[in-house]
Amino acid sequence: MKISPRGIFYLKGLIHLSALATFIWLAYLVEQDHLGADPVKEMIHFLGKTSLNFLFLTLLVTPLIKRFKQPLLIRVRRLLGLYSFAWVCLHLIVFVWLELDWHLLLFFDEVVKRPYLSLGAITWVILLLLSITSINAIKRSMKRNWLTLHRFVYWALLFATIHYYWSVKSGLIEASIYLAVCVFLLFERKPYFLSLFKRR
Ligand code: HEM
Repeated sequence: MKISPRGIFYLKGLIHLSALATFIWLAYLVEQDHLGADPVKEMIHFLGKTSLNFLFLTLLVTPLIKRFKQPLLIRVRRLLGLYSFAWVCLHLIVFVWLELDWHLLLFFDEVVKRPYLSLGAITWVILLLLSITSINAIKRSMKRNWLTLHRFVYWALLFATIHYYWSVKSGLIEASIYLAVCVFLLFERKPYFLSLFKRR
């Protein structure tokens, strides 16, 4: 059975609702002081992981379309990607605001000194570019360059997962599960990576 345009409408509603529910849940945890001994760090972790989850969902759309022959699913991909970017902006804001107290020089120093933060920053820039160029008028004006640029989402996925893996001091099992999902999603794009190697 094919998903109808109405089905896509409800699916988008569900995505908005799940994002809203996640936000309310975080606000509740903060308000009730349920974030443990280091609430700022917990918030950074929560927001980073939520962004990565949305990025995973974004990259799951194409394999689902192909496997289940559901072309209309493409209509939810941009929304999921934009939510991933929105969550990572909150991740970044909480870090710069609550952890570094807006010391921007310290921020840049940290980003340069710590490779896992450098990787996070590169990922953020990629997601920023992809979000800006997801506007229809810009997409149309970029023509074929749009696809070339948007393939960078695979690198964003890889860098974000490594950023996560690198940042954890304990809980390697969960980070390894994320790494495995990342490898699976990238494996689905095997032809793209093979074509890169061939070109070289
Ligand atoms: C300039 C960009 C970024 C900065 C400054 C940044 C900063 C951080 C920091 C400080 C941590 C916590 C490390 C610790 O526990 O000591 C962290 C963890 C994390 N970040 Fe980022 N990050 C950035 C970009 C990203 C991006 C683009 C993603 C995903 C799309 C992401 C996802 C995560 C995840 C999943 C974690 C681990 C959460 C956990 O341990 O539960 N970050 N990041």
